[in-house]
Amino acid sequence: ATLDKRDDSPPSDFLDQYKVDDSDGYMTSDVGGPIEDQHSLKAGIRGSSLLEDFIFRQKIQHFDHERVPERAVHARGAGAHGTFTSYGDWSNLTAASFLGAAGKQTPVFIRFSTVAGSRGSADTARDVHGFATRFYTDEGNFDIVGNNIPVFFIQDAIRFPDLIHAVKPRPDNEIPQGATAHDSAWDFFSSQPSTMHTLCWAMAGYGIPRSYRHMDGFGVHTFRFVKEDGSSKLIKWHFKTLQGKASLVWEEAQVLAGKNADFHRQDLWDAIESGNGPSWELAVQVVDEDKALAFGFDLLDPTKIIPEEVAPLTKLGVLKLDRNPTNYFAETEQIMFQPGHIVRGIDFTEDPLLQGRLFSYLDTQLNRHGGPNFEQLPINMPRISIHNNNRDGAGQNFIHTNIRHYTPNTLNNGFPLQANQTHGRGFFTAPGRTANGNLVRQLSPTFDDHWSQPRLFYNSLTPVEQQFLVNAMRFETSHLTSAAVKRRVLAQLNRVSHDVAARVAQALGMDAPAPDPTFYHDNVTAGISIFGGGGNNA
Ligand code: HEM
Repeated sequence: ATLDKRDDSPPSDFLDQYKVDDSDGYMTSDVGGPIEDQHSLKAGIRGSSLLEDFIFRQKIQHFDHERVPERAVHARGAGAHGTFTSYGDWSNLTAASFLGAAGKQTPVFIRFSTVAGSRGSADTARDVHGFATRFYTDEGNFDIVGNNIPVFFIQDAIRFPDLIHAVKPRPDNEIPQGATAHDSAWDFFSSQPSTMHTLCWAMAGYGIPRSYRHMDGFGVHTFRFVKEDGSSKLIKWHFKTLQGKASLVWEEAQVLAGKNADFHRQDLWDAIESGNGPSWELAVQVVDEDKALAFGFDLLDPTKIIPEEVAPLTKLGVLKLDRNPTNYFAETEQIMFQPGHIVRGIDFTEDPLLQGRLFSYLDTQLNRHGGPNFEQLPINMPRISIHNNNRDGAGQNFIHTNIRHYTPNTLNNGFPLQANQTHGRGFFTAPGRTANGNLVRQLSPTFDDHWSQPRLFYNSLTPVEQQFLVNAMRFETSHLTSAAVKRRVLAQLNRVSHDVAARVAQALGMDAPAPDPTFYHDNVTAGISIFGGGGNNA
């Protein structure tokens, strides 16, 4: 086995070269000497133990440091390896190499998760679920760090700590709440109406999926595709489950949380072990750059979906999971997904939630790993060679041999070359993007309509699904101790749909607010409505 990443022809399983088999041989210390590690060194048979016992110290010290900080959010998760196969040559849409030919295969690793629970929490807690996918492409790692719900609670990343503080366990007694019935979460939701859309999805079956295999995935934000000629389009990512969508019912979720807290983890593991690994189709909605405000809402607003009637899905390929991790910590725990891991042919947008995420993941991973070299961990290594002048730092694994580690240099003939000398146009940033304007601390008024899309969602549900959502709202809000929060929740729900507000109020033994037709319209950002205008749910 070689650890030299400069070999450009990776083995079929890249991780094999890092595997260590301790199942034979003799016991050694970390530095190689043969040891007996079942007895500490003592002065006399009845002690005392000696400080000079390096065998004891090394073993206990390593154990003492086995735990690293769990993820600040999405701590509870399970992952697996698989392969993405492109359906075609998509160079008409993007220069992304992994989408460049029919049948082209790219290794992937997916990690599913809940958001609010700690690493040891129950799988079936009601929550948004993470759906993070890494593509080890032949032009570098590309991550879609998405969720199983296509929208998010907030519109500006600066509010993320507030959201998470409101839904994480109480600081005094550490009693978990997630998106469940506790005052602070619903205090936040009802004071921050941008949460209504995601909340409605979480209260419908999406908060308690039957398994990870039965969830769709979404990139949530609008991103960009960039073609080789530099032209770009706006896109949204979708993973469509080929197992069919299904959720638990609340009673099942509650029983499972007690009987088998690892229910989802086990389901995924067993499906793969039995040769029935799950598959998803990867698809995009594609929208012209000049249509960002054309549909009655702002495509930069992560609380909005683009209805498929307006922008149908283009199915790009299929992704199949077929291999469980060999070591949970080395793979599932140490993978560091980042929305900022993009490849040539894909670009960001100005979505202020996405912009904040581009900072947050890198920052938190420096903390989680304790240094800047976490991309050198086997699960994070791209499957192609790396050349740059990043050097040293804690946990450095490479032995760099190039002594001219600066640019520009003439002594090494200018190598490594800048990629715009080798890869042409369309490199990461779409050339057509512009940025200008006065500096402001506010959200665009085109982000203001928080109620039309949750109403669209609620109206799209069957009566049984609507009852499911109402039951969840009733269960969760019935635990609220603050009457003021209950009233504010009803006021917000009433803006979404008087029907929901009335049915939840009934269970709370409270009066529903009167219907408020001023809110019952379709998306009308910038005065444009694609849904024909007029009230649809008074
Ligand atoms: C982790 C999704 C918004 C901060 C994650 C993970 C997912 C995810 C799937 C788990 C990654 C893994 O399995 O390793 C999303 C989505 C968002 C969103 C879809 C909105 C559309 C945000 C925002 C912030 C944030 C706004 C902060 C400003 C974090 C952090 C982690 C995380 C700190 C832990 C990462 C780590 O320790 O490696 N997120 N998130 N997220 N997210 Fe988000």
